Amino acid sequence: APIMILNGPNLNLLGQRQPEIYGSETLADVERLCAEEAAALGGTVDLRQSNHEGVLVDWVHEARTGAAGLVINPAAYSHTSVALLDALHTCDGLPVIEVHISNIHRREQFRHHSYVSLRADGVIAGCGVQGYAFAVRRIATLLADPS
Ligand code: DQA
Repeated sequence: APIMILNGPNLNLLGQRQPEIYGSETLADVERLCAEEAAALGGTVDLRQSNHEGVLVDWVHEARTGAAGLVINPAAYSHTSVALLDALHTCDGLPVIEVHISNIHRREQFRHHSYVSLRADGVIAGCGVQGYAFAVRRIATLLADPS
């Protein structure tokens, strides 16, 4: 099964949106980066993006039975979505790594808390889009040696 990589609201505009914060690389670049990282580790990725909370919830349900692991950048929903946290809590045993492109802890107070972190096995923030590649690698490690 592929590693699912879910992206929340406004990340369709990655590369154009506040490039001083999120950089100039696009979501297509992220997909290529993750596919390369996964291929080197013998896996594949399924990258998706939605601006809609319920769609992301549905995709987490899909990952529950259909993915080897989940990398998720919930974007603004990190800070608001109990629904996404509850969906992640249905995914028993699924490796979950949360990614933020920016260092949310160096930004506004309202970005410092993430509901999703309560279920994430690991959290990567402030490493730019490279954080997604780190997350894919971490999923591979957790799959090889769940402890
Ligand atoms: C983000 C950080 C969030 O606070 C913000 O709402 C985003 C992107 C990041 O990748 O740094 O949309 O998740």
